[in-house]
Amino acid sequence: MSTLRRRLAAAACVAGLVVAASPAFADGSRAPADPAFLSECGSCHVPYPARLLSAGAWRTVMNNLDRHFGTDASIDAATARSITVYLEANAGTGGKVSTDPRLVRVTESPRFVHKHREIAAATWQSPKVQGAANCGACHAGAQDGRFGDHDVRIPR
Ligand code: HEC
Ligand code: HEC
Repeated sequence: MSTLRRRLAAAACVAGLVVAASPAFADGSRAPADPAFLSECGSCHVPYPARLLSAGAWRTVMNNLDRHFGTDASIDAATARSITVYLEANAGTGGKVSTDPRLVRVTESPRFVHKHREIAAATWQSPKVQGAANCGACHAGAQDGRFGDHDVRIPR
């Protein structure tokens, strides 16, 4: 584990405990985000909101952590199981997510597209945003799994 990743993981871990202890629900879903999910899945990128992908898509991600977008994101089996349970319980349902289990890009999720439909192309491309995948540019609480309406600010 690199020093940076360890530091990020430690920060996410502390944040995870704070989130878990507070009554506010991370990512606006009904359940508080799982601390293991926040630390393990928030160490290389922000912990993406569970409801942006279907349960099937999350299973695809969790079953292929050793071949994770060109990197190895493997974790021990017990932790992987508990994270999978959390993601499946909080996954998106209905027309807001694709039912195709191969659609594992959160930025291509119909729900993501719908929620961001008013953002102009020029905003996505601005130097302060640098693309839709850079969630933290606008969602101040992204690293802690918070994506609620009141935590959003588009940098100008
Ligand atoms: C070792 C680093 C690392 C860890 C740990 C990691 N990921 Fe990733 N993840 C990546 C990389 C690299 C990408 C690809 C980024 C890109 O293509 O822009 C990615 C992409 C993703 C995507 C697609 C995002 C998108 O819309 O483009 C999802 C979903 C995802 N990860 C979920 C997870 C989950 C769930 C976990 C925890 C079990 C996890 N990741 C842990 C490195 C990691
Ligand atoms: C350019 C700024 C920007 C970036 C980058 C961005 N978002 Fe957003 N996001 C917004 C705005 C603005 C809203 C709409 C808030 C509202 O409904 O008033 C929003 C809404 C959302 C919502 C819905 C919140 C809710 O509770 O209804 C989710 C979930 C979300 N974003 C996730 C993400 C994720 C995940 C990423 C990165 C993959 C991301 N966003 C990247 C600006 C951004």
